[in-house]
Amino acid sequence: MQSSPKMKTTALLVLLLLTSLLAAASSNKDRCHPADKAALLAIKAALGNPYHFASWTPDTPCCDWYDVDCDPSTGRVVGLSVFQDANLTGTIPDAIAGLVHLQNLMLHHLPAISGPIPPAIAKLSNLSLLIISYTGVSGPVPSFLGKLTALTLLDLSFNSLTGAIPASLADLPSLSSIDLSRNRLTGSLPPLLFSKAPQEAYLRLSHNNLSGTIPAEFAAVSFAEVDLSRNAFTGDASGLFGRAKALQHLDLSRNAFSFDLSVVELPEQLDSVDLSHNAIYGGIPAQVANLSNLQFFNVSYNRLCGAVPTGGNMARFDAYCYQHNKCLCGTPLPPCN
Ligand SMILES: *[C@@H]1O[C@H](CO)[C@@H](O)[C@H](O)[C@H]1NC(C)=O
Ligand SMILES: *[C@@H]1O[C@H](CO)[C@@H](O)[C@H](O)[C@H]1NC(C)=O
Ligand SMILES: *[C@@H]1O[C@H](CO)[C@@H](O)[C@H](O)[C@H]1NC(C)=O
Ligand SMILES: *[C@@H]1O[C@H](CO)[C@@H](O)[C@H](O)[C@H]1NC(C)=O
Ligand SMILES: *[C@@H]1O[C@H](CO)[C@@H](O)[C@H](O)[C@H]1NC(C)=O
Repeated sequence: MQSSPKMKTTALLVLLLLTSLLAAASSNKDRCHPADKAALLAIKAALGNPYHFASWTPDTPCCDWYDVDCDPSTGRVVGLSVFQDANLTGTIPDAIAGLVHLQNLMLHHLPAISGPIPPAIAKLSNLSLLIISYTGVSGPVPSFLGKLTALTLLDLSFNSLTGAIPASLADLPSLSSIDLSRNRLTGSLPPLLFSKAPQEAYLRLSHNNLSGTIPAEFAAVSFAEVDLSRNAFTGDASGLFGRAKALQHLDLSRNAFSFDLSVVELPEQLDSVDLSHNAIYGGIPAQVANLSNLQFFNVSYNRLCGAVPTGGNMARFDAYCYQHNKCLCGTPLPPCN
């Protein structure tokens, strides 16, 4: 078929239009919203224009910059991950508040970043992941973090944070993972923490100086992991247990917990349990031998008594898992009389 010049022109126009549409779509990720670029350049300036941000230059699209992640469809900056640089000094810049579409913020292994977590962070209303870890950041775990209603994961581990865990974290409807390990936190656990957690919860608070008892409300939380090791907690931790619970990893070691272990039903998915260095009494439930996933079990340095269960996976655990108790006996310890 012979096509007319008019048809050819139309086809060419359609082709041109399609190409430019496609080009616009594919260059979306290379775009850079001026507001995001301005915020990033302000962050760079606030940190003293360090070498780390050498790729952050005004004449290039910010979605191409080192540490920066853009949403491919909107072209807006949704992620900022700055890590592994001991040369970065200063405080977390307030200019971060300008990255209004930010969903993931990671400041990791930046030991010379110091000062408090700034209120500017609370303006990032779409923040889902907040990781500030292995830094020199100090001051409190700010209660304004309770304004970040989209937050799912909060990791502020390995810093120099002090004070208590703010009760406002319990207001966050999507928060299911909290890691505040290795700080200098004091005070007790907010009773309603994770009361709104939409899925299995992860709580890591080891190596602080937290105290008080485990709130009764925690018995209703579906925890997959609880690590409260090396704190000053006291009282009854039996509310964390229960045969049908999702708990897989439990570390209560090096606290002052005191409760009767005999009456506890162990969650069937448990793969690791460290109860060492507490004041736990009673006996070891026979059911422990039935936990097919159990790889680690340590009840040493408590006040337990009676026969160590046998059968099942118990051969995995040596005498050091039971040492320094009141009167435990039977394999791998000396026989019971
Ligand atoms: C940190 O600074 C030192 C000395 O100026 C330099 O050799 C090193 O490459 C820098 N490290 C980074 C990650 O920029
Ligand atoms: C935040 O997320 C919501 C839902 O995902 C979206 O509608 C809104 O535009 C986002 N706001 C910003 C500032 O990115
Ligand atoms: C922990 O707190 C207790 C008081 O609650 C205090 O006596 C103790 O010195 C603190 N320990 C550390 C390592 O800060
Ligand atoms: C251990 O499992 C066996 C077989 O499933 C069952 O008969 C027994 O009652 C269980 N023991 C405990 C203490 O749960
Ligand atoms: C159990 O804990 C005690 C006390 O912390 C420790 O000495 C021992 O090595 C641990 N056993 C295992 C198997 O980890």
